[in-house]
Amino acid sequence: MARPKLIVRDLSKVFTIDEGFGKFSSITAIDNVGLEVNEGELVTLIGPSGCGKSTLLMILAGLYDKTSGEVVLDGTPINGPGLDRGVVFQEFALFPWLTVRNNICFGLKNKGIPAGEHDRIVRHYLKMVKLEEFEKIYPHRLSGGMKQRVGIARALAYSPELLLMDEPFGALDAQTRTSLQQMLVDIWAQTKKTILFVTHSVREAVFLSDRIVVLSRRPSKVRAIIEVKLPRPRSRLSEPFLRYEEELEELIARELAEEGAERGAHAP
Ligand SMILES: Nc1ncnc2c1ncn2[C@@H]1O[C@H](COP(=O)(O)OP(=O)(O)OP(=O)(O)O)[C@@H](O)[C@H]1O
Ligand SMILES: [Mg+2]
Repeated sequence: MARPKLIVRDLSKVFTIDEGFGKFSSITAIDNVGLEVNEGELVTLIGPSGCGKSTLLMILAGLYDKTSGEVVLDGTPINGPGLDRGVVFQEFALFPWLTVRNNICFGLKNKGIPAGEHDRIVRHYLKMVKLEEFEKIYPHRLSGGMKQRVGIARALAYSPELLLMDEPFGALDAQTRTSLQQMLVDIWAQTKKTILFVTHSVREAVFLSDRIVVLSRRPSKVRAIIEVKLPRPRSRLSEPFLRYEEELEELIARELAEEGAERGAHAP
């Protein structure tokens, strides 16, 4: 069998917080997490707020150090940022002083792609996100959904091996969100990228995923992995779709209930 594209093994992350006056405290965000993502797979991570999802993605992006464990992409340990990973985060803003075109070119330059090829690549990816006419526009003139589309084009343009997406559609209205989910699935089918996607939305997870990784409350542990065996295109209203939604809702509700029970048990 082929080796998984991304391997996360026994990963833990403890933040040390400087409380001042020489005092330090620590907080365990991730505790012995293991997961694997196969080539071309779309995997979502879902779990309670504050459980460590963004921390995990930041480690995979190489922006946070891990405390222990292993993260390996294509057989090579991840030890810092790199252009083998594309990042689309909710708050990962575009450069406001650069046009849409130059935002996309930023990664191309860093990857050493010759300037003569930039126009062709920019147009290709802007077409993919349906923003061909916005090449010369500055980000402040774009809607939230359009900004995220440019973010996706920017991340894809330098051909990363893995796309890391942290609630990229979380701040958008329901209609824009639904249409961007469809756009992402289309782009994914076209580019065959490997995608790890964080969401709070059960419906978004069922719509997008090959597999859904359900995380526990902090410190993150893998609670369940659900394979979504629904054909594509997926109808959000079909009976099997709703059954997956229900199953996930129940799992997450149980997770939150346990949290409540534990809090209660620890109450003074
Ligand atoms: N840079 C940091 N320094 C200290 N603690 C941090 C830092 N980043 C995150 N944490 C803590 O780690 C825990 C996990 O945070 P994280 O942002 O990964 O959660 P999350 O699952 O992404 O939450 P949400 O769903 O609300 O986005 C939280 O308790 C948070 O306070
Ligand atoms: Mg987060």
